[in-house]
Amino acid sequence: MTLKVIQVGLGGWGQAWARDVVAKNKNVETTAWVEIDAPSLEAARKRLDLPAERCFTSLNEALDTVAADAVLVTASLPGHVPSARTALLANKHVLMEKPFAPTVAEALELVELAEERGLTLQISQNYRFAPAARAAAKAISEQKVGRLGNINIDFRRYDNTAPVAENRHYHIWEPLLVDMTIHHFDLMRLVIGQEPVQVICKTWNAAWSKYDEPAEGAMTITFDGGAVVNYRGSWVSTGPQTNWTGEWHMEGEKGELLWTGRGELPESVELRLLGEKKTEALELPTITNLDRAGSLAAFVTALETKTVPETSGRDNLKTLALMFAAIESAKTGLPVNVE
Ligand SMILES: NC(=O)c1ccc[n+]([C@@H]2O[C@H](COP(=O)([O-])OP(=O)(O)OC[C@H]3O[C@@H](n4cnc5c(N)ncnc54)[C@H](O)[C@@H]3O)[C@@H](O)[C@H]2O)c1
Repeated sequence: MTLKVIQVGLGGWGQAWARDVVAKNKNVETTAWVEIDAPSLEAARKRLDLPAERCFTSLNEALDTVAADAVLVTASLPGHVPSARTALLANKHVLMEKPFAPTVAEALELVELAEERGLTLQISQNYRFAPAARAAAKAISEQKVGRLGNINIDFRRYDNTAPVAENRHYHIWEPLLVDMTIHHFDLMRLVIGQEPVQVICKTWNAAWSKYDEPAEGAMTITFDGGAVVNYRGSWVSTGPQTNWTGEWHMEGEKGELLWTGRGELPESVELRLLGEKKTEALELPTITNLDRAGSLAAFVTALETKTVPETSGRDNLKTLALMFAAIESAKTGLPVNVE
């Protein structure tokens, strides 16, 4: 089957989706590209050499003009809910970039709309499609360290060198929690294999930060199986950079699992049993479709097999709920239950 897709949103990341991910998947054909901002559409059209007659500034216009089975939403967050709603109302399946929606209520509305219509709604949580994350999740589920206790996660990047006016990233809403930590929240659910119960979070902006909103934060999250995550994240860290997944130290009753992935540093998962000095490197699985290619392949498989994808909109509500609980805690200074 060839899945016909309309892609919505052609900023930097959307263009990379078109060129590096969708164009390389033989089971997917893009029938139209939509970008609400005309100059951005024209720039993307030239850069990607797209046919002008299949480029639109409105999703409705594209839906009226070309055939499509699904809509891929790679727009920025304000475009997520309107684009997904339009697509679902036109009976198209949806694959959408994180973060799902600007409120849990809107995310739930889309989940229910998709379910009522028997459509697939998947959020691309691309960090899941990575060898180390999968190997760590497997090791934890196989009880290699036994029952989990304290888990330390550190994420450090120095994204502070671009000119302030030109870099959209400095001006987005909650750049740490909504743009970045959402990946780590989702990975916590995958790797720990437990669901979050409560979070207490503090965010701030370093004196040298070019971001409008807090670019750094720390939090403690308790999980329903007894795990407790202590997380520190920064977009403006002057310390050594971590990989995109961050550095994970997962302590269990039998020892510690250390892992990292997706980035410049080697991807690894290591087990250190209690009392041992040496660590044992665990084997990493071969993953054919990595990262966003994995999200897209999972979407195609879900449609072909009529199964619910791992990162369905409904599943993603739990990741989103943790994100909003962290935001609320950072605002109020109080612990917030994840509901
Ligand atoms: N998963 C990842 O690792 C990862 C990495 C980077 C970005 N992203 C996500 O990808 C998305 C896009 O990121 P970006 O860096 O390209 O952002 P960007 O702001 O550079 O570009 C977004 C584009 O979407 C367009 N847009 C907004 N609303 C629209 C609508 N209703 N219809 C059509 N187009 C619309 C904007 O005009 C803009 O050109 C965001 O959701 C972001 O969180 C994910």
